[in-house]
Amino acid sequence: MKVLVLNGSPKGNNSITLQSVEYLKEHFEQDEFEVLNIGQKIGKYEQKGECDNVIEMIKKSDLILFSYPVYTFIAPYQLHRFIEVLKDRLDYNEIAGKFMTQITTSKHFFDITAHKYIEDNAYDIGLSVIKGLSADMDDLLSHKGRMDLINFWKYVQFSVKNKCFESKEVIKSGERITYQPPFDESKKSEEYDTVIVTNCENNDENLKNMIEGFKKYYPYKTREVNILDFKFAGGCIGCFNCASDGKCIYKDGFESYLREEIQSADAIIYAASIKDHSLGASFKLYDDRQFCNGHRTVTMGMPVGYILSGDYSKESNLRTIIEGRCEVGHNFLTGVAVDEIQSQDDISKNLNKLAKTTAYALENQLVLPQNFLGVGGMKIFRDLIYLMRGLMKEDHRFYKKHGIYDFPQKKIGTRLKMDLVGLLMSIPAVKKNAKGKMNEAMLKPYKKAIQKKMNI
Ligand SMILES: Cc1cc2nc3c(=O)[nH]c(=O)nc-3n(C[C@H](O)[C@H](O)[C@H](O)COP(=O)(O)O)c2cc1C
Repeated sequence: MKVLVLNGSPKGNNSITLQSVEYLKEHFEQDEFEVLNIGQKIGKYEQKGECDNVIEMIKKSDLILFSYPVYTFIAPYQLHRFIEVLKDRLDYNEIAGKFMTQITTSKHFFDITAHKYIEDNAYDIGLSVIKGLSADMDDLLSHKGRMDLINFWKYVQFSVKNKCFESKEVIKSGERITYQPPFDESKKSEEYDTVIVTNCENNDENLKNMIEGFKKYYPYKTREVNILDFKFAGGCIGCFNCASDGKCIYKDGFESYLREEIQSADAIIYAASIKDHSLGASFKLYDDRQFCNGHRTVTMGMPVGYILSGDYSKESNLRTIIEGRCEVGHNFLTGVAVDEIQSQDDISKNLNKLAKTTAYALENQLVLPQNFLGVGGMKIFRDLIYLMRGLMKEDHRFYKKHGIYDFPQKKIGTRLKMDLVGLLMSIPAVKKNAKGKMNEAMLKPYKKAIQKKMNI
């Protein structure tokens, strides 16, 4: 695969983010990476001629990889400027359908808006978007961070190879994807247990058809659980009866229904029709009653997908909730298949993509690092449960067991190192001498990490 890397970091080759690309180069020798230091040399790349050269390179590549740091809620100025010039010079039809993805490093503070900014611009110019990787700036230094990067790249390779992310522009130009024939239900594998949780009403033909469509493209057996069939004694009343032992005040059997029929699965697909800008009151009843699990992320690592009937693209609040729930729960969101687009073919394409991605996530146990929503959300819960541990006993036990109490006060080594660097930098002669060398010094541990070979 020919990968054109648009490095938006003003630090050029000294970019921390770029070290992840260097790591990929070392580990995936079959892929060809070409790096352009767009951010550092923006003066050059904003020139019409140079920008046209980049466009030619984009045309020849299989994948465009934006590599950049998060800067003040979004991307650095230099990358914004390049995008302005690029959009000005580009004939969108020429690159329509080409794949793009992104890698950022940051401390996860508003990494979501940076990723969305790049995605929105990519959609504008007709690119096919593959969900990017938002890494913490220290991730490459840890085994887990390197594994996340490798798994991310395998997912990118899978997405490009399967062409299940093609944009509408490609369909318009006559290049159609060939669907796999639907799976024969009787021959489906039972290797994984996938539950479809829905509030589908009998007369909701569209949602029913979409659920059936999904099943056709999905290689594993599924079970359907309709929450309308459960006799709820009532909605959560916030009594905190469940806080100490996870047991609800209602005796309607919801806890065992939730834990044994739904959360015991390997993957969950939620299916609903959008109603009053949410999934409807019946889904909210189900969601609130999950408070019997307190703030415990009990389905961590489980792939989660959605089948939605309605104008999802207009529901920005709902989109935030769906993404946020997956991020905080540390679930890989395998996709949201919708029916708001025009043709039968497009709906099938969406369902096929959701089915393929869910199967891939299951088979490869794919989970990517949490973004701002997940990291930020869990920090709030971490502090809350620590303070309320006397009452929230079940949550406290879970947080201790899973190492969620990652308070920075515990990182004494890092604190002392930073104190020392601060002390040295307060000496004018040392500061003068360090000028320009700081970035190189910061990169040393990353250069070492790049050499750490992993089994892929
Ligand atoms: C001007 C500036 C703004 C930044 N803004 C953010 C931010 O909004 N969120 C965040 O998590 N990190 C922020 N950071 C931290 C960088 O994203 C982080 O250090 C990144 O790893 C640097 O990557 P690079 O070496 O590839 O340029 C900011 C850094 C700078 C210098």
